[in-house]
Amino acid sequence: MSGSGGWEESYQVAKDLVSRMTNDEKNNITYGYASTTNGCSGNIPSLERLGFPGLCLSDSGNGVRGTDGVNGYPSGLHMGATWNKALTLSRAQFMGAEFKRKGVNVALGPVVGPLGRTARGGRNWEGFSNDPYLSGSLTYDTIMGMQESVIACVKHFIMNEQETNRNPPLTDPTALNVSVNSNIDDKTIHELYLWPFQDAVKAGVGSVMCAYNQINGSYACQNSWTQNGLLKGELGFQGFIVTDWGAQHAGLATAEAGLDMVMPSSAYWENGNLTLMVRNGSLPQSRLDDMATRILASWHRYAQIEEPGAGMPIDLLAPHPIDDARDPAANDMLLQAAIEGHVLVKNVNNALPLQKPKLLSLFGYDGVVPSINTPGGPGTFNWNFGLVSTQYALGLGDFNDTYLFENFASAAPWDAVVPGIALNGTLYTGGGSGATTPAFIDAPFDAFLRQARTDNTLMHWDFYNQEPMVNEASDACIVFINALASEGWDRPDLADSYSDKLVESVASQCNNTHVVIHNSGIRLVDAWVDNPNITAIIYAHLPGQDSGQALVEVMYGVQSPSGRLPYTVAKKASDYGRTLNPVVPTNDSLWHTQDNFTEGVYIDYRDFIAKNITPRYEFGYGLTYSEFAYSNLQTQSTSSNTTAYSTGNGTAWTSTTAWTSSPANTTSNTTAPTHPEGGDPNLWTPIASVSCTVQNTGAVAAAEVAQLYVHIPGGPARVLRGFQKEMLQPGQSCTMDFELTRRDLSEYDAAQRKWVLNKGRYEVFVGKSVLDVQLRGAVYV
Ligand code: NOJ
Repeated sequence: MSGSGGWEESYQVAKDLVSRMTNDEKNNITYGYASTTNGCSGNIPSLERLGFPGLCLSDSGNGVRGTDGVNGYPSGLHMGATWNKALTLSRAQFMGAEFKRKGVNVALGPVVGPLGRTARGGRNWEGFSNDPYLSGSLTYDTIMGMQESVIACVKHFIMNEQETNRNPPLTDPTALNVSVNSNIDDKTIHELYLWPFQDAVKAGVGSVMCAYNQINGSYACQNSWTQNGLLKGELGFQGFIVTDWGAQHAGLATAEAGLDMVMPSSAYWENGNLTLMVRNGSLPQSRLDDMATRILASWHRYAQIEEPGAGMPIDLLAPHPIDDARDPAANDMLLQAAIEGHVLVKNVNNALPLQKPKLLSLFGYDGVVPSINTPGGPGTFNWNFGLVSTQYALGLGDFNDTYLFENFASAAPWDAVVPGIALNGTLYTGGGSGATTPAFIDAPFDAFLRQARTDNTLMHWDFYNQEPMVNEASDACIVFINALASEGWDRPDLADSYSDKLVESVASQCNNTHVVIHNSGIRLVDAWVDNPNITAIIYAHLPGQDSGQALVEVMYGVQSPSGRLPYTVAKKASDYGRTLNPVVPTNDSLWHTQDNFTEGVYIDYRDFIAKNITPRYEFGYGLTYSEFAYSNLQTQSTSSNTTAYSTGNGTAWTSTTAWTSSPANTTSNTTAPTHPEGGDPNLWTPIASVSCTVQNTGAVAAAEVAQLYVHIPGGPARVLRGFQKEMLQPGQSCTMDFELTRRDLSEYDAAQRKWVLNKGRYEVFVGKSVLDVQLRGAVYV
């Protein structure tokens, strides 16, 4: 730790504390203990002698989990669909303050890994987008916002792209080599998977969670190349690295490879084992000091709370004072963020917005509030695990995590009749540790009833039958379906036949059918998308507690929809190619689940364009109730300095570009060259700018998301490198400005082990989506 870039004061305080600590005291704050007094996800003990009160670490990136009196924020993917940086910042500020009021020091989010490479991935909904630029820029704002109150923990570092076979059972932490092994090359990791982590470090993130999987043959939490090399060396990360829960598989090797903290406990570092390693000369004293310094400096800089865990009761069913941590000032943001993550993808003959329908008919299991909300009770805030266990029992999924299975097998089996959906009610969050546990949920039905009351609309509904009876006098019929995903398993498919049949049944009886999908990932619609009776389709994502009101405001035109897809929707699952499915073990030998990232940076739209596959709905796509005209493209190069430059010393860590050659060496290097946070400062220098004019030429106010794509010679045809969202009144126009940094136009040269900015012409595309290009030009470097 160098202690620069805003860390100076906290670094000095931490160094001073560490200088007064015994090695045993340092050792004690590096691993968690099971608290008998609070329900934090993890705890670090206090050191009262020196005024350190300990730390409470709790989930997650979408709100405080596992307690009551908290808000359920829109999930990461929902925020990705808003393309709204200001809202993302505001959400993070309110969320961080809520964590702090609950006595949490470390909020275990946001998620940028998985990035979303595996289309069926179970945790893609926790992150913002499978595009690293979009994910990285929203992550930056999230960390800036959260760290006004607590330490953020960006996770899971790194290459954690599937849930299948993610970790050996927690009950047997010594089991070796059963986690999936992600084999990745230097170029791909830099240009894709490390990219959003770089934004997190640039924002000064205080902690990073290392992942369950292996990378090039070494477990993520004992991988010196990724932790010492990329994170602490190249990116200049100043905070501490904490394991995912149960992700430590060695003692000395993890310490040497850069790990600083183990959760929820450590069989390897407990009982003074780090002290012993120092005493017998196997671990340098400086490494133990560095661990303690990083932990205390992050605490001092971001998360000083007198009573860690005070608002996190250990048993929510036992009597306890309810500590309502919600801030009423967050309400406008919660609703607005919920609204803006809705993406309208089909709207025929202006079926939407609804105009005071006389008879409105509602259908589908997803329209109503889930039938139990008893925080701490069975089948409630972990209700989605019920599906997981049933899925497992039926042998339908890839669920392979004994820890989760043992703990949640008894939770809510009744919601699990159909794999891949939550039949038990409206889906406002995904499942697992990123699930939210809001104090209330406004389901679509509740909000539509309120609107009906105002408009004097006659309502029919059937949320039970798969083939409901439909009154043919209905002015409109709305079908609510969902697509569930949860930590611990990958989704069985990208669509399910139960919901498809439900949609087709309603559509066969109603010529103005609207489909609303609460989707925790990509959901295919080709089974019925061209049905002429289906006049509107909305990807409603995971809106959090204000789901119903947000949907009503979009569908009745109180606000024009302004969300855009943060991923590509294919026509058929096989269009995702090798990135559709998680890999599964092929035999029982060591190293058995090998995932070779041979597609390189070609995932999602990069791959679709390269293979000339027409998607159903492309990345960046979304309709509004208005129209926009683009004009006046201006491009400018602001720097003529084209010298290639280096971001690393290139020799300190073993990295491999061969798929299954020897793993990155985990033990030989314990010091890293230091860069300022975010890596080589040159990377952040603006070197070109692009601007254009956008005018609202339609009849209603609406927000446009102007998107800038660049072709970096030698790379994909287009990569996102800028976006701006502006609300425009009819007739109003604005200038959309995009700044291109050196990083934005560079490629990572694996042979030279550096980012390189090549001289030449860079084509730029500005438009409404990755395919709907309105203006083309070029910048020159
Ligand atoms: C495991 C999950 O992977 C991680 O995201 C979470 O923060 C921890 N469990 C703690 O619940």
